[in-house]
Amino acid sequence: MADAGESAAPLGVFDSGLGGLTVVHALLEELPAEHIIYLGDTARVPYGTRSAETVVRYARSCAKVLTDRGVKALVIACNTVSAVALDILRAELDLPIIGVVEPGAQAGAREAEARAKALGSPVKIGVLGTQGTIASGAYPRAVSQISTRLEVVGQAAPLLVPLVEEGWLEGEVPELAVRRYLEPLIGAGAGVVVLGCTHYPLLKSVIERVAAEIAGHPIPVVDSAHAASAMVVEWISQGRIAAAPRGERAASARLEVLVTDRPASFADVASRFLGERVPEVFQIDLS
Ligand code: DGL
Repeated sequence: MADAGESAAPLGVFDSGLGGLTVVHALLEELPAEHIIYLGDTARVPYGTRSAETVVRYARSCAKVLTDRGVKALVIACNTVSAVALDILRAELDLPIIGVVEPGAQAGAREAEARAKALGSPVKIGVLGTQGTIASGAYPRAVSQISTRLEVVGQAAPLLVPLVEEGWLEGEVPELAVRRYLEPLIGAGAGVVVLGCTHYPLLKSVIERVAAEIAGHPIPVVDSAHAASAMVVEWISQGRIAAAPRGERAASARLEVLVTDRPASFADVASRFLGERVPEVFQIDLS
């Protein structure tokens, strides 16, 4: 990995839309000294229903916007991009890049192993993700690097992304959609559910409730966004590229938000999620 450059440089984070804010939310808690530039490609969301070639093309253009702004590292806050484009971006760009699949798989494996130990029988990992993420096989691959004993079952849940982009996070409609996707997953034996899309943690309370109803007991729900932020924190301190020593604020600390369409509606849902910390949302053109 190349030298990350000045520690005061910003950290670049991107996703197809709002989902990556679940990673930013965790990063703001853990790394309050950092200057974070977030890019949501709202003109082209969803990525999860597109071909791998298209996602790679979109990912390159998002990464370029951020590297042109001098970021010291890139966080791909999107499972779909992490599943199909992480290795390509790592080979093409000369800066550290972290994705969300590996930390999500690690957190899911830890939870499944702990539960299997408590129950005295094997526990399957259920992954909810976009069509692109599930079709890529990225989660079973990542889990097999951790343990060959763990089994992964996947379920594409494409309708959950537009619900989140609409800010429709509670009530009958999200509950019905979540039930439709969880029933086959839990029916296939999933005893732990990994949220393999960064949009889904916004629906976490609905997912936990419906999963417990279907299974008849609570099912652990693991959030890949949270797991990724923990990995970024560790990696920033190990790489000595923090903007300030842990616990201190830096003068450069701030969040900058860029989107490719509909900044006002993005700002509305984002501020409900991140509270007052959402600054002005700027629209940019990737073409
Ligand atoms: N939030 C993204 C993910 O983690 C993408 C959702 C989408 O654009 O389909 O996969």
